[in-house]
Amino acid sequence: MLLQIFTKLCIFVVYIWQNVNCAHHSDAIAHKSVRHQNWQRLEMMDNNGLYWLEWQVKEKDIYFKVTVNTRGFIGLGFSKKDARMSSADMVLLWVDDHTGKANALDCHGSLEHPHGAPIQDDTQNYHVIDGSQNETHTIVEFKRLVETCDPYDIPLSHDTVKVLWSFGNEDPIHGNLDGHGKNRGAKPMHLLNPVFRKQSMTAKQVTHQWDIVVNNVTLEPSMDTLYWCKIVSAPMLKQKHHIIGYEPLLTHISKSDETIVHHMTLFECSTKSYPGSNAASWDVWVRSTGTVCNSNSLTPRDWDSCSTPVAVWSIGSSGQFLPEHVGIPIGGSSGVKYYMLEIHYDNQKALRAIDHSGFRIHYTPEIRPNDGGIIISGVSISDTQIIPPGQKLYRNVGICGPSCSNVLFPEDGIKIISGTLHTHRAGRKMSLRHIRGGKELPRIIEDDNYDYKYQQFHQLANETVVLPGDYIITDCAYDTLHRKRTTFGGYSTKQEMCLSFITYYPKIELAGCYSMTPVREFFEMFGVNQFYSLNMTDVENLFLYNGNLLDYMPNTVYSKSKTNHTDMTAEDMVVEGSLLNKLLISDPVEFHDRTFLSHLNQLPWSEPLFTKRVEHAMITGKHMTFCRVSNESMSIPSEIIRYPNFTTFVKPPSSCTYNLFIDSIQISSSGSRSLANFFLSLLLVRICLRQPYEMPIRSGH
Ligand SMILES: *[C@@H]1O[C@H](CO)[C@@H](O)[C@H](O)[C@H]1NC(C)=O
Ligand SMILES: *[C@@H]1O[C@H](CO)[C@@H](O)[C@H](O)[C@H]1NC(C)=O
Ligand SMILES: *[C@@H]1O[C@H](CO)[C@@H](O)[C@H](O)[C@H]1NC(C)=O
Ligand SMILES: *[C@@H]1O[C@H](CO)[C@@H](O)[C@H](O)[C@H]1NC(C)=O
Ligand SMILES: *[C@@H]1O[C@H](CO)[C@@H](O)[C@H](O)[C@H]1NC(C)=O
Ligand SMILES: *[C@@H]1O[C@H](CO)[C@@H](O)[C@H](O)[C@H]1NC(C)=O
Ligand SMILES: *[C@@H]1O[C@H](CO)[C@@H](O)[C@H](O)[C@H]1NC(C)=O
Repeated sequence: MLLQIFTKLCIFVVYIWQNVNCAHHSDAIAHKSVRHQNWQRLEMMDNNGLYWLEWQVKEKDIYFKVTVNTRGFIGLGFSKKDARMSSADMVLLWVDDHTGKANALDCHGSLEHPHGAPIQDDTQNYHVIDGSQNETHTIVEFKRLVETCDPYDIPLSHDTVKVLWSFGNEDPIHGNLDGHGKNRGAKPMHLLNPVFRKQSMTAKQVTHQWDIVVNNVTLEPSMDTLYWCKIVSAPMLKQKHHIIGYEPLLTHISKSDETIVHHMTLFECSTKSYPGSNAASWDVWVRSTGTVCNSNSLTPRDWDSCSTPVAVWSIGSSGQFLPEHVGIPIGGSSGVKYYMLEIHYDNQKALRAIDHSGFRIHYTPEIRPNDGGIIISGVSISDTQIIPPGQKLYRNVGICGPSCSNVLFPEDGIKIISGTLHTHRAGRKMSLRHIRGGKELPRIIEDDNYDYKYQQFHQLANETVVLPGDYIITDCAYDTLHRKRTTFGGYSTKQEMCLSFITYYPKIELAGCYSMTPVREFFEMFGVNQFYSLNMTDVENLFLYNGNLLDYMPNTVYSKSKTNHTDMTAEDMVVEGSLLNKLLISDPVEFHDRTFLSHLNQLPWSEPLFTKRVEHAMITGKHMTFCRVSNESMSIPSEIIRYPNFTTFVKPPSSCTYNLFIDSIQISSSGSRSLANFFLSLLLVRICLRQPYEMPIRSGH
């Protein structure tokens, strides 16, 4: 009750403040104590090198430095929702042209007036450390708490955040935010993650480059989705070397930043795996331009042995470099001879394009202490992965369990360095979870503000050790509020995936670790016992062996009835391809003569109780796990397991809490601002336990 009254009061106070323009008040504080920061992160915000942002986290504080080509104001903002100012936490920075003093002003956007000037926060949480300007540039160093406990500030976390930037020609003190329209933009970022660089200052290494690109793959407007695979031979290296990192080489559409590449993977091929395969045919494939991936008729069977990833790129990423104690092996007499580059093209705009994208691999002869590798984990791509229409955050999980970790992980476990989480367009929240002995450990990676267009690697501040017997779970939550039909797992970006690409060491013979709802349980869950012409065993085999379920690689089950695979569009794949649309129900009689797909579409998905039950049953029910090894002679059979029982990891509570703040009432002569202070002094305010609440000190104008 009391809380409600106070909340209303707060809204009233906020209303008063909205009439106060941000540009009229400022705190100009200059602590010159912290100089010469060893900035951990550097980012060019615009495309022309006019706006540079440097930052680093030190305990509870985050320090920033902006270097911008202006003598006017500089804006920096953070938004969880979108790239608009109206939902952002902002700071305005400038160096006063007359006094030379640097200023920082804590502001926020106004939802009511999305195009209006930002509004000053009640508490100044950004603090200037230093600043200066010359004829052309302004530099300001400042800091804030990672979590300020001010409802107008976004707590900075490991989640994806849109970083907004702007600058103008005038100091805001003149009440003029001119130029706000032109020089502005936004970039998604993981602010708190460290980023390993190609070269550290201390250890300079000899590095070489290996560029792997496809030869002019042609996309026609009719091709919505294309998976293209090409075999390349390893560079001639007598000794073992280490890959230290990789970057994408992307073909851009005309002069834009855009590309039709959605994701790319470079796989090691194990040429020994198939009897009858010989080096001569691999050399022929190396000279060819490649072909559609995993097509039964076009793709050579031997290419299935190309399953261990060494480089992974997804849309929005800039690639990754490894920390100095880890490298991915390449070359040497026993090294891999051939690699396969797989590119997923997503031609949403129906363009005609010629593409020659690929990877730039950086490697060094200076061997690092540990051999690293990449594994893919998550939900097997199949029609048994479903997301009903009209859902806000519907979850799917993919499990990598003891059947894999007990057999393949060394006694001391594997150490995870980084990971990237992969969904298509409906993904909204993702995490990589870790279970040991009935207890969930801290999330390895967690992004509650997942942006499917920004699939940058999350480099971990602390390596996570995963021991034999542990489970790792890729947990995805999807938004299908605007979809009318069920979304299935699949290769087109209109379908979904739930995968994590995990970089780790020491390297083990594991390429992938997936799970799916077992076929029989899947149909039983929807009350279906039998189909015409095929018994459940047949259906199971169809899904598991003719279908696309063995791993995340695209077997073109969808294109069987077509002769020209490259003409396949996603619509064809979804509608024609779905096995579920071909299965006619014979038992129970109520569903007679419906296809399974039409049965699924008739279910009451708009009933939250029903949908929750299905979601819960799929998550906590049975899972068929697949442990895909890179060495075929060690194959591990798939297994049906139950979802593990565990106590969920609960994040330590935020340091922010609610306290009744009663201050002596200060009444001064100046208008609405002091009225605001008056109300504030009575208010229930969010204050930080760690940081004593500071009453905003303002110089009246
Ligand atoms: C002004 O400062 C910028 C940023 O530090 C620097 O690059 C530039 O050379 C400086 N210009 C002059 C004239 O000193
Ligand atoms: C790819 O196409 C470009 C022009 O579109 C041409 O210059 C280049 O030689 C082609 N590359 C290959 C490998 O065919
Ligand atoms: C990393 O480990 C150190 C030392 O154990 C700990 O103090 C720190 O909080 C950890 N950082 C994260 C992000 O977990
Ligand atoms: C399923 O049908 C196949 C033939 O289509 C048959 O070989 C198999 O024995 C049947 N399995 C069962 C469990 O009835
Ligand atoms: C198959 O697709 C290719 C590439 O789009 C095209 O050149 C060719 O004419 C097509 N063939 C048939 C039979 O449609
Ligand atoms: C595959 O594993 C077997 C058994 O562990 C081992 O003998 C063999 O050398 C491995 N092959 C490769 C190519 O690593
Ligand atoms: C979890 O607990 C339930 C009930 O105690 C039990 O039926 C189930 O088998 C357990 N699952 C596992 C994987 O241990």
